[in-house]
Order: sequence, then C-alpha cells, then structure tokens
Amino acid sequence: MSFSIIATGSALPKKVVTNDDLAQFLDTSDEWIVTRTGIKTRHVATDETTSSLAVEAAKNALDMAHLSPSDLDLIICTTVTHDYITPSLACVVQGELGANCPALDINAACSGFLYALDVADGYFARGRVEKVLVVSSELLTRITDWRDRATAVLFGDGAGAVVLGRGDALRSIKIGAKGNPDPLYSPNVGGISPWRADKTEPECFLHMNGQEVFKFAVSTVSADLIDVAQEAGIDVSSLDHAVLHQANLRILDAAARKCGLAPEKMEVIIDETGNMSSACIPIALDRLVRSGRLHSGEWVALAGFGGGYTSGAACFKWD
Ligand code: UT7
Repeated sequence: MSFSIIATGSALPKKVVTNDDLAQFLDTSDEWIVTRTGIKTRHVATDETTSSLAVEAAKNALDMAHLSPSDLDLIICTTVTHDYITPSLACVVQGELGANCPALDINAACSGFLYALDVADGYFARGRVEKVLVVSSELLTRITDWRDRATAVLFGDGAGAVVLGRGDALRSIKIGAKGNPDPLYSPNVGGISPWRADKTEPECFLHMNGQEVFKFAVSTVSADLIDVAQEAGIDVSSLDHAVLHQANLRILDAAARKCGLAPEKMEVIIDETGNMSSACIPIALDRLVRSGRLHSGEWVALAGFGGGYTSGAACFKWD
C-alpha cells in the first residue's frame, strides 16, 4: 500500500492575456497560435509570485482535505522558476502555512510533479509519512523572452497542489531522464566572481528547439502511458481519464492516437492556461476533480515530459 490523492487545489494569477494582446508587440497572430498550439489565453503574474501562488494552491488542497498544516509530515515542491535560489520553495511554503514538517524542492522541469509523486511513494513505502503535500508552482513568464515569438506565445503562470494520504489508489509509477540540455534550457546567472573566465552575463530566458522537444514528447509520453497502464493491469484504452503535461494540443492528440487512447479522455486546459511547466498536471487534475467528472473506481493516468529531458507517468484507480 502506498498513497491515494485525497485532495487537490490550484491557483492562477488574475491577469489573463489573449493571443491578440501578444500580437500587439510580437509578429504573430491568434490564428497561428491556436492552430499550432491550441492556446487561446494564458494567466500572467502581475503582483503574484511563485510562492504566493503555491501557498494559495496548498491552502485550497488542505481545505478540501479538511486538514491543518500541522497534520503534514512532508512538503515537496516542484518548480524551475522559484522566487529564490535559496531557500527552497518548499521551505517558503512550509513557513507561510505554519507547518512544521521537513520540506524539499525537486527540479525535474515539466515532469516535476511526477518526480514528486515518485519520491512521496518512497516515503509512504518506508512508513515515514501519513500525509504529504505536493505543490507545483511556476512563473514561466519570469524566464520567457518576450522578444521571441517562437517561445513567448507558449507559456503562462500557475500553481497546483495535492494532499496525499496512506491508501492504494496509486497502482504504478515510473520516472525517467535522458540528460541533454541542448533542446530546452534556461541559463542561471553567471555571477561576478573575479576568477570567472567568461565575463558575459547570460540572459536567463528559456531556449527551445520546439520540433526536437515535440518528437521526444509524443514518443515518450505515449510509451509511458502504455507502460503504467500495463503495470497497473489494464490496457491503455481502458483508462477513463489522462491528465498530461500541457505543452501543445497537437502533442496531446498525437500521443492519444499513438497509444490507442480515445482523444476525448485527454484533459485539456492548455487553451486557457498555456504551458505552466510542472504546474500543468496538478492544475488540470484539480479541474477534473472539482468538476465532478472523476469518479471513485475510475482509472486515471498522469504523464509529464520536458526539459532535461525528463519524463514520468503514473496510473491510479481513483478512490
Ligand atoms: O513544456 C516543455 C515541452 N515543450 C514542448 O513540448 C513544446 C514542443 N514543441 C512545440 O509545441 C512546437 O514545436 C512549437 C509550438 C514550439 C512550434 O510549432 P511548429 O509547428 O514546430 O512550428 P515551427 O517552429 O516549425 O515554425 C513554423 C513557422 C516558422 O516560420 P518559417 O520558417 O516556416 O517561415 C516560424 O518562424 O512558424 C514561425 N513561427 C511563428 N509564426 C507566427 C514560430 N513562432 C511563431 C509565432 N507566430 N508565434
């Protein structure tokens, strides 16, 4: 026995930016963005921060679970866009909530939420925890190069959270990595060390080879869905819902076709939110739960892919 997801929560910045808004200062159009990505709008932080969205999502999940922060045994956060290099987002969230458990961050880019679930699985297996909070929060707009139409139209901000409790809904989980920074990366600050050989200061923006990442995404996520369904003892076509990282509507469609899943079983929020890296999956899951469309006894798979490369997938019999 490992864990069940006993509650979900999410938070989005209040400002909504449309494709037409972007076309005011980028050489792009609503037609190009919708056709190539499925994105119509995205939420963009103004006064919100990675931490403030994380705390709001966490509080929503704790409310649904009817738990207080002191009930938590562990907090795991995932982000590539934290407000600080140190302390970790998890420590900031722990302090803001008033919890008193250990807290750690994971950076596995867009697969971060799946990596966090896999780490939590280990804590449950070792009997170290009863209740775990996982929060994925991203301000992708912080590292977006707003001069580059190839990437600026893709990203948005948001946070999603889940509370895990001892249970047996999780039936299978896998994570993977294929280390190769070139297709998708954002440099860190260079620093002002007098001994640093290269004195140029890199711009800390996302760079992406879209077509390479697209191919990796479709092949990896479809194979991962087949694997976790099989390990859970079902065929992928028997899944009731699939909640995938939201990078491109065409990736969701292609992955569904490739693994034999009916496309209408794919949760889609990208039209409204854009790509929010590790926050996409828990936000989409929260939407699914709160809409009342996810029923006890149904099969749901989660799957992520992204920079690293990293990937991860899990299969649940919802309870
Ligand atoms: O979350 C991490 C994982 N990320 C992903 O999975 C992203 C995967 N990649 C993708 O989703 C797609 O590759 C993109 C949406 C990024 C790009 O779509 P694409 O169909 O691969 O387009 P492209 O890069 O091949 O560009 C096609 C054309 C180019 O013009 P030419 O060379 O054909 O004249 C681009 O310059 O579209 C042009 N273009 C644009 N035009 C209008 C690129 N961006 C834009 C834009 N507006 N925003």
